[in-house]
Amino acid sequence: MRIDVFFTPLGLSPGDVSGQGVVVIDVLRATTTVITAIANGAKAVIPAASSEEAVRLASNLEKDGVLLAGERKSLKIEGFALGNSPREMTPEVVAGKTIVLATTNGTPALVAAQGGDPVLVGAPANFKALAARARAALVERGALVVVCSGRERQFALEDAYTAGRLVKAVKPGLRKLELNDAAAAALAIAAAYDGWEDALERTTAARQLVEANLADDVAFAAQQDRFGVVPQYAERRIT
Ligand code: MLT
Repeated sequence: MRIDVFFTPLGLSPGDVSGQGVVVIDVLRATTTVITAIANGAKAVIPAASSEEAVRLASNLEKDGVLLAGERKSLKIEGFALGNSPREMTPEVVAGKTIVLATTNGTPALVAAQGGDPVLVGAPANFKALAARARAALVERGALVVVCSGRERQFALEDAYTAGRLVKAVKPGLRKLELNDAAAAALAIAAAYDGWEDALERTTAARQLVEANLADDVAFAAQQDRFGVVPQYAERRIT
C-alpha cells in the first residue's frame, strides 16, 4: 500500500493517476470553493484549464442553468458571473446551477487528475469526510495519489500542509504503508504548524488575498469541517 504526494501537478502524468484513488487540494481557494458550491446545492462544477476553455464549455450547455466563475490574480474574470470566492457560492446563487470554473492553479490541477478513480476534491472545509473517503479509496485500490495544486508551478504551503494532515489522518493502523519523499515531507510540514489558521496565514496565497481585500476567504478556508460532502470528479464534472 502506498501514498504518493505531488507538491505540484507539474510532474504528474496520466499513468500516475489512472485507476488510482486521487485527492486534489487547492485550499486557497479553488477546492474550498468547489466543496462549498456542491454543499450548497450546485448541480455540478465543471473545472476548466483556462478562461477560454470555460467560455467554450459553458457555450455548449443550457444557458439558463449555467454560471461562469473564476479568477485571475484572485480577482473575478471580466464578464464572468462569479469569482472564485467560496463566500459567493451561497445556496441562493448556486442551487440547481452548473458552474463552469476557471482558476489559475486549482482547476488545471483537477483537469490533470482526470483518469483517477475516484478523484476526490479536498480542503479543510470537508477534511473529516475527505479523510474517511480517501482511506477507503487507499484500502480498496492499494494506492492513493494526493495532488497539491501549488501556486504558479511552485510549492504552496497551504496545500502541502493539508496533504500532510491527510496522510496523518489516513495512515493509522495500515501496515506496510509506503510514502514517497513528498508524502514524508508533508507529514513533517503538518507537524510544524498549529492548525490551519496558523499554516494558512503565513502563505503567499493568503497575503495576495489580503491585498485583494479577500482576507475573509482565508478565514473561511481555514475552518475545518464546515461541510460533510466529498465532491467527486468524473467524466469532466464534479458532483
Ligand atoms: C487558484 O486556483 O490558483 C486559486 O484558487 C487562486 C485564487 O483563487 O486566489
